[in-house]
Parts: sequence; C-alpha cells; structure tokens
Amino acid sequence: MNTEWINVGAVVNFAKDLGCCVKVNGRQIAVFNLSENNQWYAVQNLCPHDKRMVLSRGIIGDKEGEPKVTCPLHKNSFSLKNGKHVSEGDVDDITTYPIKVKDGDVFLQVVV
Ligand code: FES
Repeated sequence: MNTEWINVGAVVNFAKDLGCCVKVNGRQIAVFNLSENNQWYAVQNLCPHDKRMVLSRGIIGDKEGEPKVTCPLHKNSFSLKNGKHVSEGDVDDITTYPIKVKDGDVFLQVVV
C-alpha cells in the first residue's frame, strides 16, 4: 500500500472553523481548520448514516474536549481525531486522513 502527501491548496483558501471539501484521487475529503488551537483535521466527506456527501458542511463542536463534526442532516457526530461515531445510534465510524501544513500549503496523506 503506497501513500502520498497531496497538496490540496494554500492555507489562505481554507476558512477557519468551517469545513471545506477537496477532491483527491476521486475521493471527497472534508478539511477543517479549528481556530481555537489551530489544528487541522481531514475526514471523509461522506456521512455514513444516509450516504450523503455533507460532512464538510457539518457543524464543528466538541465532546468532552475532543473536536467533533456534526452532520447537518440528521445530527450524527463524529470525532475529528479518530473518526469514531460519538452520538447515539448505530452508525459507522468515518475515515480520517493525516493532514499537515508546510510552507503555506495544506497536504493530505492518501493511499495512491
Ligand atoms: S446523513 Fe448524516 S446524519 Fe444522516
């Protein structure tokens, strides 16, 4: 399994505390930059509950200090750190992606 760091754009193009969807090798990935601690997170854009590409439009929050995104459709929440489903009900976890900032650009690590 080969992985590669992919440049998905300049830091200035990502709004703070809002999701942004990027497409990498055919995959939609939701990118979040939280201003509180200047941490970056990347998760699949697909919400596993009803298979909708909406998590980049999700609401940012935290559950017991851990950052989470809440789907705008039916309010299922997922940890931005590890993708675990953290609200009630039986919904699959989501995939997270390694993300880093270097020289003013944002990079995602994906399997190629
Ligand atoms: S589609 Fe996301 S919670 Fe239903």
